[in-house]
Amino acid sequence: MTNPPSDPWWLFRDNRPLSTYVHLDSAAAGRSSRKTLSTVAGYAEREAIAGGHVAAAEASRVIGAGRTTLAKLLGVEPGGIAFVESATAALGVLLRAWPLMAGSTVAVLPSDWGPAIDAFTDRGLRVAQLAVDGSGLIDLDALRHFVALTPPAFVHLMMVASHRPLVQPVAEAVSICQAAGVPVWVDAAQALGHVDAACGADAIYATSRKWLCGPRGVGVIAVASSWWRRLRPRASEMDREQAEPDDSPVLLLESREAHYAGRIGLCAAVGEHVALGPDAVRARLADVGRLTREALADVRGWEVVPATDGAAGASAITALRPVAGQKVAAVRSMLLTDHQIVTTAAVPARAPYEMKEPYLRIAPHVDVTAEDLAMVRRALPAS
Ligand SMILES: Cc1ncc(COP(=O)(O)O)c(C=O)c1O
Repeated sequence: MTNPPSDPWWLFRDNRPLSTYVHLDSAAAGRSSRKTLSTVAGYAEREAIAGGHVAAAEASRVIGAGRTTLAKLLGVEPGGIAFVESATAALGVLLRAWPLMAGSTVAVLPSDWGPAIDAFTDRGLRVAQLAVDGSGLIDLDALRHFVALTPPAFVHLMMVASHRPLVQPVAEAVSICQAAGVPVWVDAAQALGHVDAACGADAIYATSRKWLCGPRGVGVIAVASSWWRRLRPRASEMDREQAEPDDSPVLLLESREAHYAGRIGLCAAVGEHVALGPDAVRARLADVGRLTREALADVRGWEVVPATDGAAGASAITALRPVAGQKVAAVRSMLLTDHQIVTTAAVPARAPYEMKEPYLRIAPHVDVTAEDLAMVRRALPAS
């Protein structure tokens, strides 16, 4: 895989703080570059020099440029971007601001993110499951019938699954739903910076810290312009009065008090992603997923969960199923403590409609090397 230092992806590693850890958990949190880290620190220092609000005003152009880039990556107009604190916070804000009636139905995929399903029930929504094929891919013909015959208030699609390599044909599903007048929200927490997330959704939300390698504590909502005036942001009168006349109403979804340094850091990380070339990153991550699954294919005591990719892209995530009674949480701890290999123990509550048992998740970024994967191979316990 990566052959330092001639390989272009070696630079990705070289641009990050030196580490003796093997990082195979980008789906949990990517490693920020030194540039992103110094941008965050520099901005925080500027707040202490000029004052928090003065620093924010000074940074408005940087934030504006970040909004424009994120809007492009998420497929909306720049006025459709709101910064929040996480993907979970984004979903909560959307659920409060979208014109929804209690008791309405949201349709989800069986692979959908467990905490999102909890948030829907908490909001008083009825949750229906969309039909999928044997591999978990959405059945587009069944979707066409479903939205025509029993249209839900909205459809929620997780673009890239978190627990196994599964990428949904979201753009196609969005066109089908929109043709039937059903809005679509897309969870792009694992998609932004990983596959092409600009899918035409009515609302799409993501997080900074995973594949974009931005700071923690920052998330983003993107809303299609046809919905801007229909939203009901829960902003106070004071916040509304302070908005500029030509501000997009989507800005009212943002929390006024926020970790501005994190937002600025996300703008830096997005800039680096664009400089690398989003298409090149996607192609490399698709290769990384394939090469990882090949490298771990015949490890004793583990089974590689097959990948389900499609036109929408391919996942860099690998899921390993223990077949010799190993406890995934204990293996994850052992890998970290004994080998400094960072992985994720993915519990069934992540995807409660689909997962029956925990998986060990291996999620390298573009800089993974054959040596990294060989280390995991050697370290995985056969029983
Ligand atoms: C598919 C998916 N959706 C949502 C989330 C929640 O993201 P956050 O931790 O930023 O709230 C995650 C986090 O792992 C995820 O994988």
